[in-house]
Amino acid sequence: MNFTTLTLERYSVRSFKNEPVTESQIEEILEVARNAPTACNRQPQRIFVLFSHEGREKIKRATECHFNAPMFFVVCYDRNESWKRAFDEQDYGMVDAAIVMTQMMLKIHEMKLGSTFVAWFDPEVLRQELQLPENLIPVGILPCGVPADNSAPLDMHSDKKHLSEITTFI
Ligand SMILES: Cc1cc2nc3c(=O)[nH]c(=O)nc-3n(C[C@H](O)[C@H](O)[C@H](O)COP(=O)(O)O)c2cc1C
Repeated sequence: MNFTTLTLERYSVRSFKNEPVTESQIEEILEVARNAPTACNRQPQRIFVLFSHEGREKIKRATECHFNAPMFFVVCYDRNESWKRAFDEQDYGMVDAAIVMTQMMLKIHEMKLGSTFVAWFDPEVLRQELQLPENLIPVGILPCGVPADNSAPLDMHSDKKHLSEITTFI
């Protein structure tokens, strides 16, 4: 599929069929999470794959935005490994994790599965549920599965600012 078409077609899927995502599909998604660019190639991303009943229940306790998905990825970064800009100590771990999640979302769409970037979660609850050590910062959850037959983009999907509002030519 043409890349621009892929980016236009992808939308946040919030309704799923009751079908599992296969092990080989999960591996393909994780491979693009592995090959994503990261600042200084530090690769601070750490990904939890929750596919068991117990794992899904953990997510449901941390967010309302679980959409009853058959499985979830939780993307964190390790703040002991992420790159910090020397000028101001800005930590790029969250940017790295967001790039990883973007690649995963596009891959998921290419595979005719669906997902949504979920930032609406209680970080303390998620930390407890996943037993995260202090150095792991959870950035987002990707519920993932086969889109329900009636799944469709919300209006927000196509409500985009004009290019002139988001660009400056100098
Ligand atoms: C950083 C980030 C956080 C988001 N958090 C949530 C969320 O917690 N719950 C949710 O339903 N959607 C969430 N979204 C999805 C956005 O609402 C969605 O991407 C946006 O409205 C554009 O729609 P589209 O993804 O269908 O193109 C998030 C998206 C991003 C990029």
